[in-house]
Amino acid sequence: MGAIDHLAIETLGADDACDGLALSGEARWNQNEADWRFFLTRGTVFGIRDGDGHLIATAALLPYSSGNAWISMVLVTQSWRRRGLATKLLDTCLDAAAKQGVTAWLDATPAGATVYGPLGFAPTLELRRLRFAGSATAPELASDGNLDEMIARDRHAMGFDRSALLRELSRRSGSQLISHGSAMALIRGGRTARHIGPLFADDAGSATALVETIAQSETGPILIDVVSEHDELLMNLTNSGWSIERPFQRMRFGRATIQNAEPPIAVAGPEYG
Ligand SMILES: CC(C)(COP(=O)(O)OP(=O)(O)OC[C@H]1O[C@@H](n2cnc3c(N)ncnc32)[C@H](O)[C@@H]1OP(=O)(O)O)[C@@H](O)C(=O)NCCC(=O)NCCS
Repeated sequence: MGAIDHLAIETLGADDACDGLALSGEARWNQNEADWRFFLTRGTVFGIRDGDGHLIATAALLPYSSGNAWISMVLVTQSWRRRGLATKLLDTCLDAAAKQGVTAWLDATPAGATVYGPLGFAPTLELRRLRFAGSATAPELASDGNLDEMIARDRHAMGFDRSALLRELSRRSGSQLISHGSAMALIRGGRTARHIGPLFADDAGSATALVETIAQSETGPILIDVVSEHDELLMNLTNSGWSIERPFQRMRFGRATIQNAEPPIAVAGPEYG
């Protein structure tokens, strides 16, 4: 650990969005500059630079409501891995969470989970990320969903309010709010693929119909992060050409803050929960 003791942790600002994007792009993540700006302006992003001033590691703490916060954008550039930088940044996020009195949540990649488990994060639900190549056979969909309804369904699913996040995501250029029967989803742009989520539906059939309608209207690749207990939807999508790309493990640090929440069909994304 001695090799990193001299590296200071700093709080990044909006001007660091491009450097953050370089790190997430190196990891082949899908976040774009708008995502980084959201974390940098609405949350606290901790960063570490090397001796030449290059950003080599980050971790973000995004406050939500009712004593909850999301940790994400935990990234360490390849040549600095396995020296304790992620652990050091997570300790800083957890100190900040403790000062704010919030329970910290995150959606971990398999590599991330090996860092968070020993720090005391407990696993909760699992996610499966699916990808579809995109092959528009139908015209572009018109946004027809009701944002207030989505905010209410999201609050019910998460157990706390995320209206600021959903309003910002839905206002971005290219975002769409699409409904189909009991199902409703937000679609937004990303660095290399468009992303579906959150998605709410009363049953697997409605969820499948909505995702397939969206898929038929998209010309490029699309992603969705499905809560893995929805096995019928997962089966329907893999049978219609979607591939499972990677798992995520939702984890919690701190006391349970949520009662009677019903997880959505698909989440807003591992960076937002
Ligand atoms: C995951 C990641 C952030 C870890 O950063 P890091 O600075 O290398 O992590 P640390 O050095 O603090 O690792 C602490 C411990 O976690 C475990 N660990 C970390 N990365 C691991 C890996 N790839 N495989 C197995 N164990 C790993 C080890 O036990 C390690 O201790 P050790 O090196 O003494 O054995 C980094 O590999 C990364 O940026 N990966 C790509 C993006 C990503 O998946 N981010 C996590 C998002 S949830």
